[in-house]
Amino acid sequence: MAMMKAVQLAPDSFIPGGRPDPLIREQHGNIGKSLSRLDGPLKVRGAARFAAEFPLDGMLYASVAFSGVVKGRISRIDAAAAEAAPGVTLVMTHLNAPKMAVVPLIKTQPKAAGNIDLPIMQDDRVHWSGQPIAVVLARTQEQADHAKSLLRFEYETEASVTSFAEAKAKGTQTGQAGGRPLKMERGDTDKALAAAPYKVDSIYATPRQNHNAIELHACTVAWDGDTLHVHDASQLVAHSAWSLAHTFGIAEEQVRVTSPFVGGGFGGKCLWWHQMLAAAAAKLSGRPVRLMLSREGVYRIVGGRGPTEQRVAIAAQADGTFDALVHTGTAAVSPHNPMPEPFILPVMSVYASGSLKFDLEVAYVDTLANTFMRAPGEAVGTFALESAIDELAVEMGMDPIELRLKNEPETNPLTGAPISQRDTEKAYRDGAERFGWSQRGAPGSRREGEWQIGMGVATATYPYYREPGGAARMTLARDGGVTVEIAAHEMGMGTMTAHTQVIADRLGLPLDKVDFRYGDSFQPGVVRGAGAQQTASIGFSVIAAHRELVVELLKLAGNDTPLAGLTADEVGGFNGGLAKLDEPGRHESYASILARAQLDELVVEGIAPPPLESQHWSMHSHGAMFCEVGVNVVTGEIRVRRFLGSFDCGRILNPKTAASQFRGGIIMGIGLALMEETQFDERLGRIMNPSLAEYHIPVHMDVPEIEVIWTDIPDPHAPMGARGIGEIGITGVGAAVANAIFNATGRRIRDLPITLDKLL
Ligand code: MOS
Repeated sequence: MAMMKAVQLAPDSFIPGGRPDPLIREQHGNIGKSLSRLDGPLKVRGAARFAAEFPLDGMLYASVAFSGVVKGRISRIDAAAAEAAPGVTLVMTHLNAPKMAVVPLIKTQPKAAGNIDLPIMQDDRVHWSGQPIAVVLARTQEQADHAKSLLRFEYETEASVTSFAEAKAKGTQTGQAGGRPLKMERGDTDKALAAAPYKVDSIYATPRQNHNAIELHACTVAWDGDTLHVHDASQLVAHSAWSLAHTFGIAEEQVRVTSPFVGGGFGGKCLWWHQMLAAAAAKLSGRPVRLMLSREGVYRIVGGRGPTEQRVAIAAQADGTFDALVHTGTAAVSPHNPMPEPFILPVMSVYASGSLKFDLEVAYVDTLANTFMRAPGEAVGTFALESAIDELAVEMGMDPIELRLKNEPETNPLTGAPISQRDTEKAYRDGAERFGWSQRGAPGSRREGEWQIGMGVATATYPYYREPGGAARMTLARDGGVTVEIAAHEMGMGTMTAHTQVIADRLGLPLDKVDFRYGDSFQPGVVRGAGAQQTASIGFSVIAAHRELVVELLKLAGNDTPLAGLTADEVGGFNGGLAKLDEPGRHESYASILARAQLDELVVEGIAPPPLESQHWSMHSHGAMFCEVGVNVVTGEIRVRRFLGSFDCGRILNPKTAASQFRGGIIMGIGLALMEETQFDERLGRIMNPSLAEYHIPVHMDVPEIEVIWTDIPDPHAPMGARGIGEIGITGVGAAVANAIFNATGRRIRDLPITLDKLL
């Protein structure tokens, strides 16, 4: 019997409840299988209902008006024409909005990144151009939009800071993340830079970017007395329910947020003002409300990535060993939001260096709050860092892969913590062979007709995270099937498919006996579909609930069973029941145990232990990103011709959904490299391209063949051995493209996006 591969691991005794059990028994072998999305048919048939698709009796449609000035007071509102327009039932402004408290976005972090620390339609103050200042409710969307166009506002404006340069000139402050200053120096980097035989020292810039998920931000809300139900598009249902309850001063159990399907999140599908405003308008009108932001609305009120200016300096010895690594710079933030784009994160873990310094300063601009956007920090931080490494490799005449591998750290370069698992070298070697890296020539040496061709490479990186608060409920039925409930999220990543596989393998059940339910704040757990950590969080929650299940089942089984006398540590899920780990013949099915106990079902809940694994171990994923570009010598047009991502992210649970995650990240990275840029008019303090016609993202014709491969080496300290893959795909791409453009043309472009005008 091919089963129960017993892999002995050092117990992580510092984790209460024992080790994370990374290598669960593979008796059904679902983990690692390319299972197609279980929710695929529902989506193809249009049967998967998204937030703006819940028809409720008596529902009204909302349209939001946005301020046209940056800062000041609303001195006059003329709503008469709007109120008299056909179908209109309510115009809500600060004059009649119900009381809403300012509360944190995230339950566990009072001053969380992405939070907007401002009263919501409670006074006449305006803080950014685009701030919601009125909500119109009408019988149809068209009527609401029309009435909104009839609203007239007058303002008393005040001075504001809308240019990054002016904001910097006014003085910067040290940025913070999680209460820690983003500033540190180990050793004397200035001295090392002065003494080193080789060095680079350059400034890089990355622009403001906006979220553009396919699904617009939307919610359908209904009050039943003092109880609120929000059908949301959310990557944090439990946090949102908590925040909404405190916003309206009602008990937490009086708010239910559900979000079974999300059409893309990327960090943007959190709690913004539209959910609060919809709930407030529904309360005022006594009717259910559907509020779907227009694409422009998403640009006005949903934050994106803030602009950065970064300096990277590296000093190296003649053999390539780093003596100094410096990453400093400035990120623009709004005064009412505590999150700087933390571009210095990669330098904290990727390379060993004799001395190390990072320093992120923030400058305050009166804009919409910025927020999480796929790999906040790493996405643009790796552009600067990995461009600089490439520049150093050119300077030294060294292969950029060898230069990187020369500086692989043996422990965490900042904390000295032992590394849980890391095989960047294998990712590079496998990727280089597959991509044909040896074909790369000197800069500007390869030409096909009008096209200069070049190859570039860069390191991708993202940490393993697991947030506290994970929990799961398991209901084992008499027929041996299990239902697992976790307030988790499916935003298109493949969560529900991959975790059905995980649960099936852990319990020893076929896939069709597993019902994984998620996306409802009434379910257990306070999980975010963010930080590429949902897989670890769900995984450990399932481990915890399964442990409870085994304990209860052994009690119920009693002594009249082949399992008699065994402890929970000695048994595992196998073949529709429990079996002794090293003696699978000692087995009793779940159905048999429940039948003998005369139970129809057994319900247990488990709480995941605190994430101590990431305090003890340095846990990071890496990737080697290979890019081939063509640059047209006549027009400057840049085409990405080939791309390969070679990843070391722990174990891959489902190759099909994982490949899609990696590819999606790389495509978003190609957009970051070549297209994405929020045009911000610094005179007006206003976003000028709030539409997909003018804000460019890659379309099908821009996306070349993208190959993805991985090492598939389990991380012994992550649940299932999997470190999470949601964000890493975008990291390193900007530099891989820029480095390829340098190799093609000999031109080094240090500010994103790399548009053709910068090459002409
Ligand atoms: Mo991710 S930017 O934490 O959704």
